[in-house]
Amino acid sequence: MPIQEKCRILDHQKVGSSYFKLTLVSPYISSHAKPGQFVEVKCSDSYEPLLRRPISIHRISAEHKTFELLYEVVGKGTGLLAACSIGGELDILGPLGEGFRIVPKKQVHLLVGGGLGVAPLLALAETLKSLGEKAVYILIGAKTKECVHCETEFNKVTDQVLVSTDDGTHGKKGLISDLLLDFLNNQLSTFDFQLSTIYACGSKVMLKAVAEIASQKKIDCQLSMEERMACGIGACKGCAIKTTSGYKMVCKDGPVFDAKEIVWT
Ligand SMILES: Cc1cc2nc3c(=O)[nH]c(=O)nc-3n(C[C@H](O)[C@H](O)[C@H](O)COP(=O)(O)OP(=O)(O)OC[C@H]3O[C@@H](n4cnc5c(N)ncnc54)[C@H](O)[C@@H]3O)c2cc1C
Ligand code: FES
Repeated sequence: MPIQEKCRILDHQKVGSSYFKLTLVSPYISSHAKPGQFVEVKCSDSYEPLLRRPISIHRISAEHKTFELLYEVVGKGTGLLAACSIGGELDILGPLGEGFRIVPKKQVHLLVGGGLGVAPLLALAETLKSLGEKAVYILIGAKTKECVHCETEFNKVTDQVLVSTDDGTHGKKGLISDLLLDFLNNQLSTFDFQLSTIYACGSKVMLKAVAEIASQKKIDCQLSMEERMACGIGACKGCAIKTTSGYKMVCKDGPVFDAKEIVWT
């Protein structure tokens, strides 16, 4: 059940040319949020911009009563967010949506993040680790080295971090879908794919390629989909996507969907 509340800004750091990490205090959200869920952030006290902005929950700490967001400044809302100071407050609605479905005791948990798609995957990796899951891997794909996020954090909670960049400035040169296929065909070839799960977040093009590979290899696959959002609670129907059982709302029925459900348009 989401709530709307003013959350105190405990920390706010620039972590790249246009990337920021924001730590917010909320006993409720930190104890109710699940990996893959998101919050709707009111980026200013005025009516401009009118709509809240959806941002994935990056990290959850019930112990410290905090949660973190990792975001990129791309426009007006995120630009205003970047100007918020430590000690101030932000109006937050959340936790929202359906997150990743964690099926324990899987042989392999394979996380695949394109660019800032790694944001919700850190909460997932930390949760899998805390549940004692074995064989958790993450593949990170990005345009260039500067866009590879959270490698150090993932190193602490996964068995292996593999990176690819489009320009070859870090990790293997090429697309993350090629890295995934290579990883499955070589390093994971002795595992039973039917007892494994892929969890992916990134651009639509990347998600489609990951879904195709998962279908080919018969691996259970969950995708975190992204659409422009207004209400964030299933009321405006602005974030509909086509699925095998009709149109569904990314904000309420997702953002995480079973890959087999998605009708790619
Ligand atoms: C479920 C969900 C989770 C998200 N998680 C994160 C996250 O963890 N970190 C993060 O940085 N961003 C995340 N986003 C994207 C984020 O919501 C947008 O970047 C933000 O709303 C842009 O607001 P703005 O006012 O700064 O930009 P605007 O001025 O509104 O737009 C600037 C540019 O960004 C594009 N844009 C805006 N919203 C989206 C969107 N939803 N999808 C694709 N392109 C968009 C616009 O087309 C435009 O080109 C998420 C989006 C969704 C739907
Ligand atoms: S954003 Fe309004 S229904 Fe999803």
